[in-house]
Amino acid sequence: MDDRWIAIATENELAPGQMKRVNAAGKRLLLCNADGKPYVIDEMCSHEDYSLFLGCIQNGRIKCSLHGSCFDLKTGQPETEPAVEPIRTHPVEIKDGQLWIRLG
Ligand code: FES
Repeated sequence: MDDRWIAIATENELAPGQMKRVNAAGKRLLLCNADGKPYVIDEMCSHEDYSLFLGCIQNGRIKCSLHGSCFDLKTGQPETEPAVEPIRTHPVEIKDGQLWIRLG
């Protein structure tokens, strides 16, 4: 298991509602700013192999633009079908003006 902390962005790099694709230790991740709070999730939707980067962030959720499933950014749980499996979430910390994630 990889439990290193990796810096992925500066603290204020993204405005609320923005996303950034991140490749960390070979994993495709998505950094999301939801109302000023950072979240990191796996980039691909759990329903089909489709990038959530093409979706949008609203009210603490990310909506997949292909079939419309919404996922809670905190838990990764789907809140609307057709997705039934969660997406993976990753711990984020802010330190020294940087956003750090831990892969596990
Ligand atoms: S690919 Fe995301 S809901 Fe279908």
